Amino acid sequence: MAITYSEKLHTFQLDGKSFSYVIGVYPEHMNFIQHLYFGAKIPVGENLRDMNNFGWHASFEAEQAEILELDPPEPFFTDVTGFEYPTPGTGDHRDTALCIRNKDGNSVTDIRYTGYKIYKGKNRLTNLPSLYGTEEDCETLELYAKDYYTGAEVTLIYTVFEGSDALVRSAKVCNGGKDALKLENCASLSFDLKTMDFDFIHLWGQHNQERNLSRTPLQHGTQSIDSKRGASGHYHNPFIALAKHNADERSGEVYGINFVYSGNFRISAEVTTLGTTRVMAGINPFEFRWNLLPGEEFQSPECVAVYSDEGLGGMSRTFHRLYLDHLIPERWAYTKRPLLINSWEAATFDFDTEKLISFAETVKDLGIEMLVMDDGWFGHRNDDATSLGDWFVNENKIKGGLKHLVDEVNKLGLKFGIWMEPEMISPDSELYRKHPDWAFAVPERTATLSRNQYVLDLSRKEVRDYVYECVHNVISSANIEYVKWDMNRQLTDIGSVEFAGDRQGELAHRYVLGVYELQERLVNNFPDLLLENCSGGGARFDPGMLYYSPQIWCSDDTDAIERLSIQEGTELIYPLSTMGAHVSDCPNHTVGRSTPFMTRAHVALAGTFGYELDITKISEEERAMIPEQVSMYHKYNDLVREGDYYRVASYRENGLYDCWMVVAKDKSEALVTYVQVLGRPNVHSRKIKLLGLDVTAGYRLDGTEKVYGGDLLMNAGMLIETMRGDYMSRLYHFVLDNSLT
Ligand code: GLA
Repeated sequence: MAITYSEKLHTFQLDGKSFSYVIGVYPEHMNFIQHLYFGAKIPVGENLRDMNNFGWHASFEAEQAEILELDPPEPFFTDVTGFEYPTPGTGDHRDTALCIRNKDGNSVTDIRYTGYKIYKGKNRLTNLPSLYGTEEDCETLELYAKDYYTGAEVTLIYTVFEGSDALVRSAKVCNGGKDALKLENCASLSFDLKTMDFDFIHLWGQHNQERNLSRTPLQHGTQSIDSKRGASGHYHNPFIALAKHNADERSGEVYGINFVYSGNFRISAEVTTLGTTRVMAGINPFEFRWNLLPGEEFQSPECVAVYSDEGLGGMSRTFHRLYLDHLIPERWAYTKRPLLINSWEAATFDFDTEKLISFAETVKDLGIEMLVMDDGWFGHRNDDATSLGDWFVNENKIKGGLKHLVDEVNKLGLKFGIWMEPEMISPDSELYRKHPDWAFAVPERTATLSRNQYVLDLSRKEVRDYVYECVHNVISSANIEYVKWDMNRQLTDIGSVEFAGDRQGELAHRYVLGVYELQERLVNNFPDLLLENCSGGGARFDPGMLYYSPQIWCSDDTDAIERLSIQEGTELIYPLSTMGAHVSDCPNHTVGRSTPFMTRAHVALAGTFGYELDITKISEEERAMIPEQVSMYHKYNDLVREGDYYRVASYRENGLYDCWMVVAKDKSEALVTYVQVLGRPNVHSRKIKLLGLDVTAGYRLDGTEKVYGGDLLMNAGMLIETMRGDYMSRLYHFVLDNSLT
């Protein structure tokens, strides 16, 4: 890790473990901040300038050597040069990162370099989630630039981390002029790659079908994904990767981009006619209008760029380690979570104190550690049509009150967790009757209901304060150690009575800032509270939410086979310990499929692990398996939480079977999970080549005396046990054993 400034070459070089990122600022190129290089590591101090075709006419360059910062550039230059933060109106006709509408009504913007600062460590962003690191962990570069006409001052912020292949970027714009400005775009990251020889990878989805991997070759033109839903959403995760065509799980170059934000976003790859690719990520400019008065500043969210020369697997491992070490709350990142049972699939809205206590009594001897009471305990909520906003317990159901219930559950030796959906308001609620204007709505239009609810206007402080007070009071009223924070609809009718007409374009972002403020207050005031985010399943599974909650409910689809591709997509970026995953009952409530109880457990063991079923209704045989599954959780969870993840085979690709591994960081043990989705004839010779082991070491298959060389398991492969039937699974646990060497 190092950031080097070369005065002689006019370059800034940021080095990660195996990548370099180089920025050039040439006085004779009128102090534009140019992007020169992002790729495999190169020596510091190389003259990359000669390697870059800027379309710069030699004699022009010579003539303009004394050029002033205020002189206009030659459009041919601006349209072909790589830039760090491109702006519109001066000849760069590609996508631009910054759009400032000035007092004259135009958006011509022209930023020139004014200085830099390099320092050890990294500052957290205020009001936004951000990566963190100490002076030993990371180093930061700030580049300063200015638009001389409007007075806009831009700071580009870059951090590289020790031993990592990740770069974190953000941008800050300050109105240093005399007139009000309107920010219409303020991207977090932009850079230009010199080729278009990549596949565009992204994760699309919908409710019950989150994060499916799509991979297509880049074409001329712009390929992009976005959200206009107010949350990062089901449809696209805020992530893309550009992978060389030959890159696979194990090898090849990949650039991964993941936006640390939970609202509207846009990530794009624009291929020019010259065959270069501009990568850009940030808040979606769609409907974004931010007023910047003189002296005010706007900070963009952060965006992570990962470079991998070890294919998609290398990219995943870099994201996982980065998020565990520098994003997820330190209190929880490597901490084992209580093994919970959740009431939702077991009872939906149909429960009372008695039923919950009977659940707790049944599970207490099975090793389950926490009971989570899901939706339906407050107001007069017996279905999804009422009471959001009325966060007081329904004493008809929870007889004796919340504290009584929690105490009783605690007495049985279980912890207690609760579900809340604090961002929402039901039209049928006391809160709505009192404060109809607290819901997002626009004048003269009937606001759209979704799941019978409106969204609270979290841009308003009084609304946020009310919401926070409700959550705080519920948690303080009893010994509540876990909260599932849900968000079950997208934003529509985004209008606020609080803000003037010309500020309505700020609301979608203000809403997200409001959510962040609430969760920040919550985790600061209850540092030991375990927070699990959720949004109609996994609609807000993004790094922004991971800054507050170490785990997120992955999907409402708990079918073990559907979960294979949902979890594969999720694990592509996010650590296994962040994936909310439960064993549920069969036939599965979403797809109607029946899978073996043990397969459901094997698949859930890849995530947080827990149960979500009516324990009093499942068969004796299944109930008897729970203690064994619980002991598997205790045996393997340290490895799953802390180890390195390797994708071995994908059911999504082969239609037959799925296989993944977790290998201890010191390579002393490995857990292989194999799921045979379809039984086929003649599979007795199916060999799986393992990944990530120490090729010089021996490994004993746990439970046997058999020892195999790491090289053998990786190069020749291991034979999978013959299983008859569909949806079968096996765990193989290897432990270091050098008795043969
Ligand atoms: C969402 C969640 C579910 C459950 C319900 C309750 O759909 O994803 O897990 O909490 O809400 O209404």
